[in-house]
Amino acid sequence: MAVKRVPFRAMFGAWKALFATKPLSELQAEYSTSQLKRVLSVWDLIGLGIGAIIGAGIFATVGTAAAGDAARPGAGPGIILSFVLTAAVCGLAALCYAEMAAMVPIAGSAYTYAYATLGEIFAWIIGWDLIIEYAVGNVAVAISWSGYFCELLRGLGITVPAWASTDLRTALASPEILAAAPRVLGIPIVVNLPAMGIVLLLTWVLVRGIRESSRTNAVMVLIKLAVLAFFVVVGLFYVQPENYKPFLPNGWHGVWAGAAIVFFAYIGFDAVSTAAEECRNPARDLPRGIIGSLVISTLIYVAVAAVVTGMVPWTELATAEPLTVAMNRYNLGWAAGLVAVGSVAAHTAVLLVFQLGQPRIFYAMARDGLLPQAFARVHPKYRTPYVTTILTGVVVAGFAGFANIEEMVDLTNIGTLFAFALVSAGVIVLRFTNPQAPRPFRVPLSPWLPLLSVVACLGLALGLPRITWLRFLAWLALGLVVYVVYGRRFSQLRKANSSSQNSV
Ligand code: ALA
Repeated sequence: MAVKRVPFRAMFGAWKALFATKPLSELQAEYSTSQLKRVLSVWDLIGLGIGAIIGAGIFATVGTAAAGDAARPGAGPGIILSFVLTAAVCGLAALCYAEMAAMVPIAGSAYTYAYATLGEIFAWIIGWDLIIEYAVGNVAVAISWSGYFCELLRGLGITVPAWASTDLRTALASPEILAAAPRVLGIPIVVNLPAMGIVLLLTWVLVRGIRESSRTNAVMVLIKLAVLAFFVVVGLFYVQPENYKPFLPNGWHGVWAGAAIVFFAYIGFDAVSTAAEECRNPARDLPRGIIGSLVISTLIYVAVAAVVTGMVPWTELATAEPLTVAMNRYNLGWAAGLVAVGSVAAHTAVLLVFQLGQPRIFYAMARDGLLPQAFARVHPKYRTPYVTTILTGVVVAGFAGFANIEEMVDLTNIGTLFAFALVSAGVIVLRFTNPQAPRPFRVPLSPWLPLLSVVACLGLALGLPRITWLRFLAWLALGLVVYVVYGRRFSQLRKANSSSQNSV
């Protein structure tokens, strides 16, 4: 049988194309010709950052991090250190994002930076990976939103039936929920309607315009900041110093495992960079928006963590509503109600900004040909990427209606840490490949700080359970299949490079 030989040149060309990078000049030109509306100021960006950062992480997952669960030890009051440790890791990544975002103000965030530095295959992997951060993360936040929203309604005397506010897996473990569920052809209907509803509502706001979205976010941010400040001030009066002893009940292992969980609370500062094409002065404002929102959120987190672990013994914090538990412990029912309002507002803002980020990443990928061209359509009147906004809204709402929140958080964390590590590596690469390019913001002590960022992100990811790693790797493998079947064939960069070679 004759074996067909693949010429070495063709093989080498295909290999080279995988690592082809998009020229910086081309990316910068895309910014100047972008059809998106350029209206955001530095305060809007800080607002978007805080909007995306403070949410389910501080209102819900902080309980698991402090008390631990079957898979990992709790940090106890040492969760305060977990927050500081994670802030340091995120701070390094934020500096790297700031350098990249100011240099390449394009909506695709980490995806675009990877395209400019590490090559198309890495860009694709990151774009695919960001779906975990934004869309999967938002499924988790929408489910958590629903929990707090129903709690709030209960406080007002309105009860949402359990079958209409939970998922099937939870219902299967609870015969009374299943018994109460309506049936169609004998099949019980269990669907998280509030989770679906909020995602669809925000999708509508997002299609209407970036200014409208930013204003909605600003209102939510003000409410959540006021409620958290209120929690800290009132809670301080109820802190019992004996709750801080022992400070590290599970040693540094507990602090590390806690850090890997509370990482979820910090995700979001990077989402600021997805609004790059809509800011008035990206070179100056993006670094300020990214770093400013992270610093403000860190201060708030450390204060809240110190107060909540001072109010409640750490072993009793294994709950999805730790701040409410803390208030109820001292019979402050009215304060618990306020916390629920703040939590709903906080979750809403996170949902909004993540729903804003994901379509812009798809939009950038479609512009590069790695996704269908229809995804790059901009609404003629509202000037928003409406096709991808609606698509993201429908998919996230669909999953939020039926998915279970467990595991979503870990998956989001690993996906985001991976993106942070690659962006940090990208900073180092670009310093070597393009040393002369103007950098409105520079990470100090490069390459050492970006390198430390890579190591720290991977180190934190090692704190996540094995099953999370396996799921993550399976997701990346699926992404590679999609790239081979679609993205590789329609890549604009590939087309441009091969036509320029043919013309030589
Ligand atoms: N940082 C976001 C939150 O805590 C994802 O909800």
